[in-house]
Amino acid sequence: MSSANPQGLQAFPEELSSRESWLEPFDWYREMRDDDPVRYDADRRSWDVFRYEDVKRILDDDETFSVNPRLTSDFVEPDNPGEGLIFDTMLFQDPPRHDELRGVVDDEFQPRTLRERESHFRDLAADLLDDAVADGGGRMDVVEDLAYPFPVTVIAELLGVPAEDRDRFKRWSDTLVSAASDDEGGEEYAERQQQAQMEMAQYFVEAIGDRRENPRDDLLSEIATTELSDGGTLSREEALGMCILLLVAGNITTTNLIANAVRCFAEADADLFDRLRGDERGLTTALEETLRYRSPVQAMTRIATEDVTMRGETIEEGDRIIVWLGSANRDERRFEDADEFRPDRSPNQHLGFGHGTHYCLGAPLARLEARIALGELLDSAEDIRIADAELRPTRSSFVYGVESLPIRYAER
Ligand code: HEM
Repeated sequence: MSSANPQGLQAFPEELSSRESWLEPFDWYREMRDDDPVRYDADRRSWDVFRYEDVKRILDDDETFSVNPRLTSDFVEPDNPGEGLIFDTMLFQDPPRHDELRGVVDDEFQPRTLRERESHFRDLAADLLDDAVADGGGRMDVVEDLAYPFPVTVIAELLGVPAEDRDRFKRWSDTLVSAASDDEGGEEYAERQQQAQMEMAQYFVEAIGDRRENPRDDLLSEIATTELSDGGTLSREEALGMCILLLVAGNITTTNLIANAVRCFAEADADLFDRLRGDERGLTTALEETLRYRSPVQAMTRIATEDVTMRGETIEEGDRIIVWLGSANRDERRFEDADEFRPDRSPNQHLGFGHGTHYCLGAPLARLEARIALGELLDSAEDIRIADAELRPTRSSFVYGVESLPIRYAER
């Protein structure tokens, strides 16, 4: 399975290599939680951890379990400079550097800041749905028509990318998250990716230079001008890395939350859509259950900074560990009827946004976007059913969802 892979996952486990198994990995997770909850996979030179308690322990302890891929004993600096840039961002840095970097953009992602923009975001989603309903004749593709374009447009607006540059911006994002097409060789694909990365990098470097001179009320200006503890600002590379991180971490994940929610609701019971229409609190709770039940991020990486024993196994300093959030979230030791989608589950302490120091910066934004997208969909459509189609998993080794989700509905 090919993947754009900012988390440094080396290779997908053999057990999940077929399309069917990656669409429904949950039985395999259960077997692993019961029989082999902390295991070493020699093929991938990596540990896998499956139980909620163990995953949480790892995420809680960022001294013993680092995010910095350069601490892996077999680490090789990537050829691709784009990937190198990402390794210097908050996602792959431990405290105190992590905290300094996160502090640059933290305010912009707080719920109170986002609330000011809520009605504008709602208009964006409503426009996308108007177009889809007008063109669709009672059918639409939730991914293509709503779940994919909505987060890309929102982040472009937050960053401050002007309307006339949106199409270019979306094209770069499309290329960066896309897998190789069937009629394209590996080299051709790599070239296309690098071209998009270069164009986007150039665009952001210029935009950041511009904001240093003329700051405005946007995220790019924060990234360009926020003063760090040494009195300076982010370097050009660090600022660029931050922009790329926000795109990579925020778009395809939110797309999958929105589409996974439609899938979960449709599979749960046909009346659920009707019951949630106009019920903002109910919708919020059902979205949390989606984050648990079909977690958009299934796995993350940590590196052991010292020898450590877990369930009788010795993980050595420099070893790579994959923590399976998607499995932890189905752990029956933690959640009653864990394999049941219960839209009103509460409390619901899932790990869908991670936990601890690196808890998702964009969680409030993702929650808001999903609430808006689903709310607007329910306002535009009723009698929503998944249309007959073979579901294909998102081509990634850590982001979970479907590439497209055709639905049938009646216009409201
Ligand atoms: C971190 C999931 C949306 C930005 C994370 C982590 C997870 C996650 C699991 C923890 C990574 C780790 O511990 O190694 C998700 C999911 C999303 C989502 C499921 C959508 C449903 C977003 C959005 C943004 C964003 C919309 C921003 C636009 C980030 C950043 C980090 C992060 C910057 C790194 C935080 C840090 O290192 O302190 N996300 N994310 N995410 N996410 Fe999200």
